[in-house]
Amino acid sequence: MQVTLKVQRLNPETNSIPYWQEYTIEAEPTDRVLDGLIKIKGEQDGTLTFRSSCAHGICGSDAMRINGQNRLACKVLFKDIGSNVTVEPITGLPVVKDLVVDMEPFMEHYRSVLPFFINDDPIPTQERLQSQADRARFDDTTKCILCACCTTSCPSFWANGEYVGPAAIVQAHRFIFDSRDQGTDQRLDILSDPEGVWRCRTIFNCTNACPREIEVTKAIGEVKKAMLYRKI
Ligand code: SF4
Ligand code: F3S
Ligand code: FES
Repeated sequence: MQVTLKVQRLNPETNSIPYWQEYTIEAEPTDRVLDGLIKIKGEQDGTLTFRSSCAHGICGSDAMRINGQNRLACKVLFKDIGSNVTVEPITGLPVVKDLVVDMEPFMEHYRSVLPFFINDDPIPTQERLQSQADRARFDDTTKCILCACCTTSCPSFWANGEYVGPAAIVQAHRFIFDSRDQGTDQRLDILSDPEGVWRCRTIFNCTNACPREIEVTKAIGEVKKAMLYRKI
């Protein structure tokens, strides 16, 4: 099939505003948008800039806005979206070049919620045991690959980049509901900040955007509830 990709481009060294550039390629219906971008870069325009690594939906590095929706370019097949495709960088983070955004503000929010295991008990000689039911409590949020599709589809984040964002809350959820972790109070204190969970207006864009099908809004709701019902 013949596919036309309309790509939003920006080189901050030479352009002050983004512009569109169209490329037409021959592709198999089962090719992914990432295959198309690689083909363009290899055969038509070496200056086209984007990130990718695993090409299998695991590393989270090729999040972009495809036909108006945040997706991973390596998971979107041309046969599913047709032959006229628009590709833009994800929204709300500074563009470094073309489809590459600066992920540092996103990572700063991620680091702010203490996304690691906290437990000051003496190190046991064997595993820290956990029941299957307790493990299931946070199973969904362990699937996050930090692609930023959720946070950069959230209108609350677009309106206020200080909002910690759904991805960071998902990462906090993963530890808050881990029965072996002892950092819950610290994380809930951090997330009760004016830029924390209450900036979420339950818009659900995050859930719709997540390529790992994590129930992001539900996880945020559970963190809100934990905050409301915690013993002070
Ligand atoms: Fe990506 Fe989903 Fe994690 Fe958000 S919750 S960063 S959309 S994997
Ligand atoms: Fe934003 Fe998702 Fe909440 S889109 S407002 S974080 S439900
Ligand atoms: Fe790794 Fe797409 S390249 S998720």
